[in-house]
Amino acid sequence: MSLVFESDIIDALKARDDSSVDLVLLDPPYYEVVSDEWDNQWASLSDYLAWSSGWLQESVRVLKPGGSLMVFGYFPVLSRYMVFLPNLDYQDYIVWTFNRGGKGTQLHRRHEDILWMSKGSPKFHHLRGERYYRTRVYADEFAKYSPPYPEGLIHKANAHRGGTAGYDFHVEGAKLSNAWHIERILHQSKERVEHPTQKPIELIDRMVRMTTDREDVVLDGFGGSGTTALVCSRLRREYYVSDKDPAYVQMAQSRIDTDEYGLLSMFAL
Ligand SMILES: C[S@@+](CC[C@H](N)C(=O)[O-])C[C@H]1O[C@@H](n2cnc3c(N)ncnc32)[C@H](O)[C@@H]1O
Repeated sequence: MSLVFESDIIDALKARDDSSVDLVLLDPPYYEVVSDEWDNQWASLSDYLAWSSGWLQESVRVLKPGGSLMVFGYFPVLSRYMVFLPNLDYQDYIVWTFNRGGKGTQLHRRHEDILWMSKGSPKFHHLRGERYYRTRVYADEFAKYSPPYPEGLIHKANAHRGGTAGYDFHVEGAKLSNAWHIERILHQSKERVEHPTQKPIELIDRMVRMTTDREDVVLDGFGGSGTTALVCSRLRREYYVSDKDPAYVQMAQSRIDTDEYGLLSMFAL
C-alpha cells in the first residue's frame, strides 16, 4: 500500500523492514544552499555529515539485495557519503545538467549530481532510445566540430578512422549516458508547484524506470513537493514518500490526487 506521510527521515526509514525496498531515492537538504530553514539546520558541515551518516546507514539496511540507493547532491558532499557506504557497490555518478541555475560563487552552477550505489548487482534497465544527451548542452558549439548525435542514433564505429562518417541506428536505440540534460523547474514550467527545489518529473521518472519494475517498492524520505510519489503513482510502483514539513506532504498528496495523467498508469512499464 503506497503512502505519502509526514515524518522525519530516520523514522520513515526505521518504519521499513530489513531488505524490503527496491529503490531508496533521496534528495536531502543540500547544506546551506537554499535559504529555507530546512537547509540551514546544522552548525557545521561535519554536523550535517554526521546526521547524513545516520540515514545512509538506515537506507542500506532497508535495501533489498539488487536494490539501488540514489542520492542527490554535489561532489563535496556525495564524495563523503561514499565513505559511509562501504558495503554498497558503486554504480555511477550521474551529472544532471541544466542551462539555467544557481549563481554559484565563482562559476555559475549548472549541474547537480546523483550518486548511484547498489546492494550487489543492481536491477537495471538500459532505457535505450531515451533522449540521447551527448550534444544537448551547447549543441551549437559542439556542432562546429562534429554534427550533433541525433536522438536514438549511435556514431558509426569507424568514422574517425576514415570510414564513412555518419550515424547508424542501434537496433534498440542508443545507450543512455551518465550526463543527463533536463531543464530545471523554472517559474514558467507547467509542472511547477511552490517548492524551492522541486525536481523535474522527467528526471525522477528516468531514475525510477532505470532501477525498478512495476510493483517494486520505492522510498523517498525527503519527498518535498512529491515528485517521486507522482512518478511512482504513474508508473505503478509502491511508494513510501515522506517529508517532515506537513505543508509539503499536503502538496504532494494533492499533486497525485489531481494528476491529469494518472490514468496512463495502466500502461506503465
Ligand atoms: C531538496 S528537498 C526535496 C525536493 C523533492 N525532491 C521535490 O522534488 O520536491 C529536501 C526536503 O527535505 C525535507 N527535510 C529536511 N529535513 C528533513 C528531515 N530531517 N526529515 C525529513 N524531511 C526533511 C525538506 O522539508 C525538503 O522538502
